[in-house]
Amino acid sequence: MLLSSCILPGDKSILTFKETITTIVNPIEEDKDKVYTSLQKRIFTVSCTGCHSPKKPKRMDLTKKENIIENFQDIVDRMRDSSGVDTMPPFEDQNIFPAVKEELILELEEWKKSIDEQSTQPDQIETETKPETPSNPTENPDEPWL
Ligand code: HEC
Repeated sequence: MLLSSCILPGDKSILTFKETITTIVNPIEEDKDKVYTSLQKRIFTVSCTGCHSPKKPKRMDLTKKENIIENFQDIVDRMRDSSGVDTMPPFEDQNIFPAVKEELILELEEWKKSIDEQSTQPDQIETETKPETPSNPTENPDEPWL
């Protein structure tokens, strides 16, 4: 009797806990940037991540959006390089990893431009309007758990 009445609320709290975890993790895993997701599939997955992924720790990880943004000019220059010096994918591997077509590179540049425009505006507004909520519970002596 006692035991069964204890297990029930316990089970419930585990369920609630699991739900909280999924809602926290999902927005990070699934990128809301649909244009990026599409470009990642059509460019990087096809032509780059076979060699540039977390499996090859010495190389730039091109499965990561932040790496693509950070090294954007270098990446685009290498896609367009026809000299064979810095060309990516390397000429000798282009039978497996196809060269990126100019029209896709242009799409990629459009996307990057839109990212740059976004990050110069709404970010500033966000920092200005941040509510001043006390984040540390120890600052609030009226809380019952103290
Ligand atoms: C067949 C394997 C292969 C593929 C596919 C490939 N790369 Fe590379 N990449 C390399 C190797 C090897 C190096 C290191 C040698 C060098 O710098 O030339 C490199 C270096 C780079 C670098 C310099 C930073 C670093 O990691 O050393 C960039 C940027 C880069 N590649 C971008 C790309 C892009 C963008 C694509 C897809 C369009 C791509 N690569 C596809 C093999 C590959």
